[in-house]
Formats: sequence, C-alpha cells, structure tokens
Amino acid sequence: MAVQINPSILSADFARLAEEAKAVEGADWLHVDVMDNHFVPNLTLGVPVVESLARATDTPLDCHLMIEAPDRWAPQYVEAGAGSVTFHAEAAAAPVRLAREIRAKGARAAMALKPATPVEPYEDLLPELDMLLIMTVEPGFGGQAFLDIMLPKIRRTRELIRKHGLELWLQVDGGVSDSTIERCAEAGADVFVAGSAVYGASDPAEAVRALRTRAEA
Ligand code: DX5
Ligand code: ZN
Repeated sequence: MAVQINPSILSADFARLAEEAKAVEGADWLHVDVMDNHFVPNLTLGVPVVESLARATDTPLDCHLMIEAPDRWAPQYVEAGAGSVTFHAEAAAAPVRLAREIRAKGARAAMALKPATPVEPYEDLLPELDMLLIMTVEPGFGGQAFLDIMLPKIRRTRELIRKHGLELWLQVDGGVSDSTIERCAEAGADVFVAGSAVYGASDPAEAVRALRTRAEA
C-alpha cells in the first residue's frame, strides 16, 4: 500500500498560490478545497482558480468539492484540469451517475463522507469509485483537531475494501499531522491530506517528507 501525501492549499497564502503550489512539489497531489458557503460555512475558490493552478504546477490536482449540487458542477472541475474530483455523499443526488461521469471525462472519481455519515450504506457503490475520503474533522476549515472517533470507520472501510478486493484508495482529511498520521495509517488509510501541518511549517517540502516517513513507519 503506497503512501500518498496531499498538501491542502487551504492553509496556503491565497495571494501566492502558484508559489505555494511549487513549494510542495514532491507531494503526490495538491489538495484543493472548493467551498461554496452552502454545503459548508466557508467560501474558497472555484473553476477559474483551479484552471490557473493546473497551469501553474506539475503536481496533479485533487479537488475536494464541499459544495451543494456536485452533480451539476463536478464535471467542470475535470475540464478545468483536476486529476481527481471528490464529491460529498451527503450532497450528491446520483452518486453512481456522477462517479461514472467524472471517470468518463478522464479523472479519478472520489466520494467523501462527513464524520456522521456511515460507510456501510455505500458498500455496493465502492467499485464505482477510485477513492473514498473519510473526513476526520467537520468539513469547512483548516486547523481543526483530529477526530479520533473516526478511526473505527477507517478500519471498517479498509475491511470492506479488502473483502471486495478493490483498488480503492482510502483518504483521510482533517487534523492530519505528525502526531496523528500514524494512527490513520495503522487504521488503514493510504492517502493523507494535510493543510496546517504542511503550510504552517517553516519548510513545507520537508514537512511533506516527514509526514511520509511517519506514515510509512
Ligand atoms: C477542511 C478541508 C481540509 C483542510 C484540512 O474542511 O477539507 O482539506 O484543508 O486542514 P488541516 O490539515 O489543517 O486540518
Ligand atoms: Zn479537503
């Protein structure tokens, strides 16, 4: 299970996005948090910024859509250059159709679960996805404390992936740091989003390397 570290641009300086993206080259993906002030109480960026970022970095973009009506908007993020597009299970009207559309347009399709959303109702959908994201904070803001109570859900999801023999990546997002990443890895996560732990560090590239080393331990 190869470990992937995805720095979240949410904790970067939005006035210097291109430079901030370059500062973490060597990371596997750049995690881009799209928020619409409806699905979550915060507003970040949209399609035009994703288009510019895709031109500014060679690191592929992992777009996490915390928005209402992803069925309508997600395909535009593939067109904007995202290599992976994550929609929320709680917001999607037709998750299977949406995942198929994202894949058909040429990106990896992923679905996210908020902390109170169980994975079990989605067991039969997992083969339609390239990645499942388990939120380890309530979505909306960077810098929140990691929710330890999500570890059993990560374990149960890893078990489902094994049981069905799937290639699915298992991502965690929220409060991932030097002190929590080992617990996530031990529970079965293999893709780690880190915002404040990377961009809050004096050397973001070094922070990515340190997180990788800990997750691989
Ligand atoms: C929160 C976002 C996260 C956020 C994580 O809703 O989805 O991607 O950037 O930030 P940290 O790593 O600081 O918790
Ligand atoms: Zn995110």
